[in-house]
Amino acid sequence: MQYDIKDLSLADEGRKRIEWAFREMPVMKILREKESPNIFKNIIIGACLHITSETANLVITLKKCGAEVLLAASNPLSTQDDVAACLVRDYNVQVFGIKGENNKRYREHIKQIAMRKPDLIVDDGADLIVFLHNNVDFAENVRGATEETTTGITRIRNIEKQGKLIFPVIGVNEAQTKHMFDNRYGTGQSTIDGILRATNVLIAGKTVVVCGYGWCGRGIAKNLKGLGADVIITEVSPLRALEAVMDGFRVMKINQAASCGDIFITATGNARVISENIFLKMKNGAIVANAGHFNVEIDIIGLERLSKKITEVKPLVKEFILKTGKKIYLLAEGRLVNLGCAEGHPSSVMDMSFAGQFLSLKYFINNPDLAVKYHNVPAEIDEKIALLKLAGMGIRTDSLTLYQKKYLRSWNLD
Ligand SMILES: NC(=O)c1ccc[n+]([C@@H]2O[C@H](COP(=O)([O-])OP(=O)(O)OC[C@H]3O[C@@H](n4cnc5c(N)ncnc54)[C@H](O)[C@@H]3O)[C@@H](O)[C@H]2O)c1
Repeated sequence: MQYDIKDLSLADEGRKRIEWAFREMPVMKILREKESPNIFKNIIIGACLHITSETANLVITLKKCGAEVLLAASNPLSTQDDVAACLVRDYNVQVFGIKGENNKRYREHIKQIAMRKPDLIVDDGADLIVFLHNNVDFAENVRGATEETTTGITRIRNIEKQGKLIFPVIGVNEAQTKHMFDNRYGTGQSTIDGILRATNVLIAGKTVVVCGYGWCGRGIAKNLKGLGADVIITEVSPLRALEAVMDGFRVMKINQAASCGDIFITATGNARVISENIFLKMKNGAIVANAGHFNVEIDIIGLERLSKKITEVKPLVKEFILKTGKKIYLLAEGRLVNLGCAEGHPSSVMDMSFAGQFLSLKYFINNPDLAVKYHNVPAEIDEKIALLKLAGMGIRTDSLTLYQKKYLRSWNLD
């Protein structure tokens, strides 16, 4: 069995962490217990996901349903090394990921998965999907792929627009049970968790600039407000800017916000949102972090260019002393701060995202002739996940009476 992980002897710690996460994953538990052990028989699933305890629980469930699973990290900083060790030792999963790996090793790990010519793909950020499109010989068995995040879906839609998509893709992020909860409540909480674990700063009384008021930005801003921060939003979408204003936030251009913020958080899925000229306007001691998928939202090369000295003052906290003498602190190398400096999303929310992954993969098996294009998650899958999650939480809802159903179908109310 091939694998590339940090240290197999960490497996006992990893097992405890995986079991702890599973307590908060009732939907995954139901799928593991109720779904057929043969759904993925003879199927190789190539996964490129953050190697966390929640991912481990998805992988174990897929294995329980017959799949052979290969797993590579979807970010060089997001791997929990003890979890990787447990998956290798206790579950015979071929894992390729080490926290802090360099870009070359990260790419090599993705290649290792592709070389096994998987039948199904699970991706987060589309690095594996893009690799397969650039190396089509490895893609000959692929029946379909699922994509976890907003940025990955943007990339896949761009491939499709150019007429180059070679297998069907289901965008799990677009399920309501994904982005409404994972992006909003998950990123909303774990981003702040990452900043706190890295810096232990007091949020109350700070001015925090959140770039992007999408699903992630909304969650981050709401929680910061709850902790007593003065939150400023920057946006490019007029509708989202308006929503932010009516939610009670100040909205301004990044140029203006630059001199106001004590902390800056990007969550846009875009590049160079904080650029070289913005660093020059920041206060001395400003902290900068990113919650978006790639480490391109903050112009790190520009920041390096402006600096005369760079030191790691705490784990994953880099101090940049600018030539002007000002200090700026960058967290997690500009990568996802919630996974780099904390443990990523709470299990309870990943329970729904990964149920979406599991059921979308099963959808490929049940629908082998799915058109080669981008697909949203079927509505029945979304509804099933919501129902299972509510059941797992012990919450019941009302249902429509016959009278109400008839009323909702009527139009002549006299
Ligand atoms: N950290 C995590 O664990 C995690 C979880 C989910 C998603 N993500 C990632 O976070 C990013 C945002 O995801 P989302 O679901 O909130 O996307 P979204 O599309 O809902 O929101 C992004 C927002 O950013 C705005 N924006 C784009 N360019 C901007 C700019 N230059 N300045 C200001 N605003 C700008 C857009 O108008 C939009 O409102 C993506 O990269 C996604 O993949 C990260």
